[in-house]
Amino acid sequence: RTVYVNGEYLPEDEAKVSIFDRGFLMADGVYEVTSVLDGKLIDFGGHLARLNRSLTALGMPDPLSEAEWLDVHRQLVDKNGITDGMVYLQVTRGNPGDRDFVYPPADTPQTVVLFTQSKPGMADIPQARTGLKVVTIDDIRWGRRDIKTVQLLYPSMAKMEAKARGADDAWLVQDGKVTEGTSNNAYIVKDGKIITRDLSHDILHGITRAAVLRFAREAQMQVEERSFTPDEAREADEAFVTSASTFVMPVVEIDGVPLGDGRPGRVAARLREVYLDEMR
Ligand code: PDD
Repeated sequence: RTVYVNGEYLPEDEAKVSIFDRGFLMADGVYEVTSVLDGKLIDFGGHLARLNRSLTALGMPDPLSEAEWLDVHRQLVDKNGITDGMVYLQVTRGNPGDRDFVYPPADTPQTVVLFTQSKPGMADIPQARTGLKVVTIDDIRWGRRDIKTVQLLYPSMAKMEAKARGADDAWLVQDGKVTEGTSNNAYIVKDGKIITRDLSHDILHGITRAAVLRFAREAQMQVEERSFTPDEAREADEAFVTSASTFVMPVVEIDGVPLGDGRPGRVAARLREVYLDEMR
């Protein structure tokens, strides 16, 4: 696989980053994941806009121009022959040459890394027809989940706990309300109404979420942006999650309680279809 690191395209085993990199020592970095379907980048503009917001929130400049970002993405898709899959990008505050809590001088070069992951047929994965089982777990992440940092230990732990409990993923709960999934935004459907948590520092402002809600409203579906409890979720007619890598994915069970007839719901199936139709 060919990867990109600080201006160079290299075989993956030749790409190197310093042990003093602040991304490595302090999780001082941000990332984006953009899907590729039939060789086409999905909602690239949305991901670039959020990258900018994440960088600004952490006081980091954007190391590449929009045209440069697009060029690196396209080159990697091309060099690696990606039909379906994704492009991962990460920007860190770079290598100060030592370990220090104080930020390095502003002219310290940032570290920019991109690589691709090939997932042939990712839009047609069988799980979209069977749905996910989720369990609810305490949300003890930090208070700025709207910044897409590489600080992913707790989401990773929550996912492992979900697997250990026989589920596919976790929905995180803070003050009695669902925030989001470990790596996706969470939705329930009740009496035809789509309910998902409103935007704040508590959740990542999903790029897929924005597109799906726009399509839902255009299709005259009712949308309510507000938080909901795990109890309300377990009593919902259906549920689903959204993310750049899974698009719209139905949830069929929450904490061992099947939703409706235990099969993917109609609203989730329709939104998945609309999203894929519109974005491809
Ligand atoms: N995860 N919430 C969290 C905590 C996430 O990590 C993600 C994305 C989302 C969905 O955002 P978007 O629709 O912009 O992908 C919500 C990515 C895909 C990942 O970490 O792989």
